[in-house]
Amino acid sequence: MQGIPIPKTKSARSGSSDYYHPGAVSVSPLSSGGLSSRFRPELLDLVRQAKVLHPVSTDELKLLLLEDISQGAVEAFSKQGFQVDHFSKAWSEDELVEKIGQYHAIGIRSKTKITERVIKAASKLLVIGCFCIGTNQVDLETAAKAGIPVFNSPFSNSRSVAELVVCEIIALSRQLFDRAHEMKNGVWNKVSKNCWEIRGKTLGIIGYGHIGSQLSVLAESFGMRVLFYDVINLMPLGSARQVETLDDLLSSSDFVTLHVPELPETMNMISRAQLARMRKGSYLINNARGRVVDVPSLIEALQNGHLAGAALDVYPAEPGGNGQPFDDQLNAFASTLRSLSNVILTPHIGGSTEEAQRMIGEEVSIALTRYLNAGSTLGSVNFPEVDLRAILAEQRNYIRICYVHKNQPGVLLEVNSILSPFNVEKQYSDSKGDIAYLMADIADVTREDIETLRERINNTRANVLTRFLA
Ligand SMILES: NC(=O)c1ccc[n+]([C@@H]2O[C@H](COP(=O)([O-])OP(=O)(O)OC[C@H]3O[C@@H](n4cnc5c(N)ncnc54)[C@H](O)[C@@H]3O)[C@@H](O)[C@H]2O)c1
Repeated sequence: MQGIPIPKTKSARSGSSDYYHPGAVSVSPLSSGGLSSRFRPELLDLVRQAKVLHPVSTDELKLLLLEDISQGAVEAFSKQGFQVDHFSKAWSEDELVEKIGQYHAIGIRSKTKITERVIKAASKLLVIGCFCIGTNQVDLETAAKAGIPVFNSPFSNSRSVAELVVCEIIALSRQLFDRAHEMKNGVWNKVSKNCWEIRGKTLGIIGYGHIGSQLSVLAESFGMRVLFYDVINLMPLGSARQVETLDDLLSSSDFVTLHVPELPETMNMISRAQLARMRKGSYLINNARGRVVDVPSLIEALQNGHLAGAALDVYPAEPGGNGQPFDDQLNAFASTLRSLSNVILTPHIGGSTEEAQRMIGEEVSIALTRYLNAGSTLGSVNFPEVDLRAILAEQRNYIRICYVHKNQPGVLLEVNSILSPFNVEKQYSDSKGDIAYLMADIADVTREDIETLRERINNTRANVLTRFLA
């Protein structure tokens, strides 16, 4: 097995997928930018050098990348010493079933479907990377049961969404889309009535996560006052202020913007009663998920002049592809919504930028590499999240055992009795549903010990998939 070189220093943002140090990982939900920003390679020279791990096996790791995944990701994987097959199109289920058996990892976007049939045919597959936000295209449960973690990139486009919201705040405030539309139709209509600067106005952010907090900073730089409402208490950035209730936020804001996930408790969280609590002449912006706003009630509030405008990027039902109609068959209110003045409608483009695509490539390739080389499942969507501090370069004859097993009673007792003759330097395990994952670093292990351990652990009742890294 070829060794995997790690370069000495490289900035975390400039594609440092080839540098890894679990001990430096922080999992704060607000450490936006994902995994690539969570570890700081420059600190490694100040602490002690991490050892580069690779699988204790003779197989060269082979990766399949479909759907034209960014060249940056291909290069990052090749630099790691992985053999990469790269294709521009999605593969059909039959094609996958025929060929996937030779691959240890697969990277896809949204069009390739990883079904139960595909997973059953994927005898060597260790990990799946979705180079996108969603993971619906993968049978996550079957993958977990087969011991295959799935990674995606949910937060790479936070900045892109936040910037779009800033644009919408100004555009609504200046009735920009209506004026621009009139000019395109040859109509000169110079208006200042009810057009405002955003400086000094109040922005109310619902959901102060990756996007909401990023937006908070941008809005303050425009001279806005920022309030936010969230179900958890969060450290405000800059001079922003968290309010106690949604009502407090709605009644105090000139612009209200939504950045919550779609959950049972956020469905229609802005409905007729909440719209009535908003200030007269205020604006509503929704770039979160279509169902968090009751659109017919919003239409009513716009038609009766209570709201001065709205911007929507997401809808309860969205067309399946470009060129398809956005009409009343899709959403019964579509034509009424389209006819309203000072309403900006965009086709779910909040996160659609070149930068976000590049970040997705970086983040997912880092996650796959960390799992293949170091066993870390941090950020996986279908697996317990487990990680261990790095084995240090001077710690020779150490091995890392990555034991994916069924979540059933007695497993830890059984596996720890196998490990008991050795010095277990560190160990961590967690479970999610039917699947559990244990990582353990063992000191002073010989090659013969590894073979014995491998055989005994593979033969435990609960074993799903065990890897040894050294
Ligand atoms: N328009 C687009 O293209 C686009 C792109 C990316 C993300 N999004 C959507 O934006 C939303 C937010 O994304 P994010 O990355 O900031 O998510 P995040 O998970 O980082 O933050 C969500 C925040 O909402 C809070 N929250 C949850 N339930 C709440 C409730 N009932 N009331 C108030 N706050 C609540 C959470 O505590 C969290 O702080 C998601 O729905 C995501 O799907 C849209």
